[in-house]
Amino acid sequence: MKLVLATSNRGKIKEITAMYSDFDVVPYSELIAPFEIVEDGVDFKANALIKARAVYEALHDDTLIVLADDSGISVDALGGAPGIYSARYAGMGASDTDNLYALIEALNVQGVTHSPAHYTAAIAMVSVQEEATVHGWMYGTAIAEARGEGGFGYDPMFIPSGYEHTLGELSSEVKVRLSHRSKALALAKMMLQR
Ligand code: IMP
Repeated sequence: MKLVLATSNRGKIKEITAMYSDFDVVPYSELIAPFEIVEDGVDFKANALIKARAVYEALHDDTLIVLADDSGISVDALGGAPGIYSARYAGMGASDTDNLYALIEALNVQGVTHSPAHYTAAIAMVSVQEEATVHGWMYGTAIAEARGEGGFGYDPMFIPSGYEHTLGELSSEVKVRLSHRSKALALAKMMLQR
């Protein structure tokens, strides 16, 4: 089954391809020129659907299933920020590193060294037959410093519940076991197989 990913994020493509080894997974940028998608939904689910629908419509091929992920981190001490704005916390076009250090700075400004936080992933699937969405979450602690080089995005400042190290320090196997995206992808896989 050909599954087209509506993302150009290399970290996500790597994680999804590893988990869906029994599917023919292709990033949409290998089929058509990448284009800008305005993610103006009110929550993760709405943004995942916006991305999946936009790519599905641009592909003009009703044999394909398009899968999109919208995800982000919510920090309790910051009232749930950055949430759906995680990808642009340091401004439009900001890099993962800019966003990471902007979030660390926001915690420092509040005088907070540790705060409960969680990642959310919404996955949307769009095909000629139907649209479906699922979610996954990973809970833990956001810290006001970056530790480790692994993972991507906010991983160096996130310690998952039950661990003492950040996702930047832990192995990718541990992250795959715990992650919000893995949980959502496992549910999505069951729906795709059905
Ligand atoms: P999206 O590509 O619009 O879904 O934006 C997701 C944002 O949340 C990006 O800034 C990512 O770096 C961040 N993010 C989502 N999932 C993860 C993760 O597993 N680790 C680290 N950062 C993540």
